[in-house]
Formats: sequence, C-alpha cells, structure tokens
Amino acid sequence: MIPADPTRRASAELREAGHADPATGAEAGALEPAREARYRALLGELAREAQQFRYRVAPNPCVGAALLDHDQEVARGFHTAWGGRHAEIEALRVLETSRGAAGRFDTLVVTLEPCSSHGKTPPCVDAVLATGVERIVIGGLDPDPRHQGRGVRILRGAGREVVVLDGSASLAEGSAHFLAWISHRRMSRGAPWTIAKWAQTRSGQLSPPLDVGEGRWISSPAARAEVQRWRGEVDAIVTGVGTVLADDPRLSVRGPELPTYPPARVVLDSTLRTPATARLLAPPAPDERAGPVFVLTGRGADPSKRRELEDRGAHVEEIGTAPDGKLSLEAAQRWLWRHCVRRILLEAGPALLERWIAEERVDQWLVYEGAIEEGRGPSLRRTLESARLRTVRRRELGVDTVLEAFSG
Ligand SMILES: NC(=O)c1ccc[n+]([C@@H]2O[C@H](COP(=O)([O-])OP(=O)(O)OC[C@H]3O[C@@H](n4cnc5c(N)ncnc54)[C@H](OP(=O)(O)O)[C@@H]3O)[C@@H](O)[C@H]2O)c1
Repeated sequence: MIPADPTRRASAELREAGHADPATGAEAGALEPAREARYRALLGELAREAQQFRYRVAPNPCVGAALLDHDQEVARGFHTAWGGRHAEIEALRVLETSRGAAGRFDTLVVTLEPCSSHGKTPPCVDAVLATGVERIVIGGLDPDPRHQGRGVRILRGAGREVVVLDGSASLAEGSAHFLAWISHRRMSRGAPWTIAKWAQTRSGQLSPPLDVGEGRWISSPAARAEVQRWRGEVDAIVTGVGTVLADDPRLSVRGPELPTYPPARVVLDSTLRTPATARLLAPPAPDERAGPVFVLTGRGADPSKRRELEDRGAHVEEIGTAPDGKLSLEAAQRWLWRHCVRRILLEAGPALLERWIAEERVDQWLVYEGAIEEGRGPSLRRTLESARLRTVRRRELGVDTVLEAFSG
C-alpha cells in the first residue's frame, strides 16, 4: 500500500518530534504570494519533466532542480540515471558548463529535499552548502526514513533560508515506484530491485529461427547498444546456466560509456554445469569492463567442478534450494542483497524469467520486440499479457519496439 502523501506525513512527524516546521516553515510564510506561486509552478514543471527518466532512475525517485539568479532561471538539471548525479549536482554542472566562473545564482529550487548521506554519490547537502547559495526551495521532504528532514535541518543549521513548499512536486504522482521501494514491506524483503530484460520475436519467443541473426540476435544493433548502457547502470547482471550453455555470453559492458565499477555477473546453476571454458571467465578486452563472476549453486557442490571454476577466477557460492531442486530465488535475492547489490538486470532465458515472474520478484520490465515473426523455444507472450503492469511506455527504437513498465 502506497501512502497517499508521505512527504506531508514526514513533515507532520517532524513537527510532532519538536523540530522546526520543515513543511511550511516560517520562511514559506514570509514569501510573497506571487513569488511562492512562481516557485510552485516551477517545482511542478521540474517534477513533470523529471518523470521522463523514471525507468532509468528507479528505484530512486524522479528529481529535478533549477538554479535562479534574481528570479531568472540560469540552469536546470535532472537525476537521469540510477547511480548517476543527483538533480542539484547536475544543475550545478550545467551552470558551470554553460557559464564557467561567471555563473551566478542565489536560489536553488529542487523537487525533493537534498540527500544528506553517502549513497552511490556523496551527500548533496555538502555540495549545496559549498556553493554558498542563500535560498533553497524544496518541493517535499524525502520520506525515506534515512533522510526525512535531515537535509533541511543541516541546511537551516548552516544558516540558509530553506522553504519547503509541500505538495508542489508530489512523489505519489511522479515516483510511486520509489514509495513502493522504501515501504517497510518491500525493504524488509532484502531483495534487489529487479529489472527483467529480454528480447523477443513477435511470437514472444526468446530465440530467433536458426537462420536469422546467427540463431541468436533478435533485436537491432541500436537496441543492443542501449542494453550496454543499462548494464552499466546496475550492480549485477543475473542469468541462468541455460543461457551460459546456449549462448556463451560475456555479460560485460562495451560502448562509449564504460562504468568505473562494472556489474557483477551472477549465474544461477544448481549443479555446476557452467563450463570452465565459458567466455564469462575470460579476461576482459581493452574496450570492455567485466565484473567478477559469481556462480550460485546448491549445497554440496561437486568439489572438482568447483575447483575448476575457481581456478578460472569464478566465485562459487552455495545457497538454499527450492523443493524442486532448483535454486531458491528467495535465497538468491538475499545473497545478492547481503553483497550490497541493490539493482539487477535479469538477462536470462525463459526458464529463469518465468520463475522470477511467477514468484512476483520482478519490479521493472524492459522488453525489446524485434521485427522477426517466429522463433524457437517457449513464448513469454501470455506471461507478459497477464502481468500486472503500471506506468507502461511503448516506444520505437529503429525496427524494434520497446516496452517499459513497473510491476503493478
Ligand atoms: N532473447 C533473450 O533476451 C534471451 C536472453 C537469455 C537467453 N535467451 C535464450 O534462452 C535459451 C536458454 O533458455 P533457458 O531457459 O535454458 O535459460 P535460463 O533461464 O537462463 O537458464 C535456465 C537454467 O537456470 C537454472 N536455474 C537455477 N535456478 C533456477 C530457478 N530457480 N528457476 C529456473 N531455473 C533455474 C536451471 O538449471 P539447473 O537446474 O542446472 O540449475 C535452468 O535450467 C537460449 O536459447 C538463449 O539463447 C534469450
């Protein structure tokens, strides 16, 4: 259940706890009505614009920021990718790029309270304070229990004027995925945010006919280039041993934007069928980044197979199994969570995908449909049609169609 307006609830809780009223604050009351209306309109616009990045930032919230100099907007920035710059920092970068040392501003307008703790990036409040900006206008408090007004208190404590214009950038409207993510129920599962990604033919099959795309490629080069970018924006890529045996993939990142920390590559393999000769285990080429390989297997793994894989650099980890002998996805997710994996790209074949979907462990969907009529193997068409999806977007990418959605 998503609370109707958790930013307001966070404000109320802070008031009850005896903190300065961060929701409307003395400063907000002191604003001239016309100026407050302008800020509210700008916050609404930033919040709407930020939503175009929702799939790339999830489970993070969509956030937009603008810098004003004597009421004139001089820069605008957005949180555009998970693990990437936050909106305030992006707006500062845009200003510096466009105006260099001549860039001036007196007001920061941002749809969500600046963060105050180290995550993938350093705390934004430090960067904001370092600019010397006088006024910070915020569209709502961060309902994440780790923040909830802490950023506001730090900024006010440093003598800055902070105005919180509650309700002008509703998270419930623009970032329902984030509210679901930080809910107690979701957090207590200890399961990384899962993006199920696959390419299918028009018949919903995941393998093309043998005489098409070398029997392997369904989507166009443009789609495959986009997948490289997605890979660079997750902590781990997860697959099944069926895919390793059939395709012998690298699951690495190639392309113009190579991540500093490439995603771990995780194979679910109950009985260590992963061959020691798998390309996954070869060293990376100069133009690619490849993360460490973890093979998750059942208890009592064959010691000689284990040694063979470990000699090639793989980390073999034993986890629990389900009653049917397949690896327990609950155990796999908990293992990933314990290893600080927070967002994964599930790039598996139909067997593992079907199971992950059936157990309602998919948070986000990314399906590329190529211009190929028929294919080989089971079809996921029915599964996709019956899935509960929300915030669905369909777009064209060359000859392919891309479906993006969150689980409903
Ligand atoms: N179009 C695409 O996007 C795409 C992507 C990947 C693969 N593929 C295609 O998919 C085909 C391979 O399909 P696949 O279904 O065999 O591959 P898969 O789903 O990647 O791997 C399935 C294997 O994973 C292991 N596994 C471990 N725990 C599991 C669990 N809880 N649930 C289900 N499986 C579990 C099982 O082997 P053990 O029992 O031995 O552990 C199972 O046979 C290939 O033709 C490949 O080209 C297509």
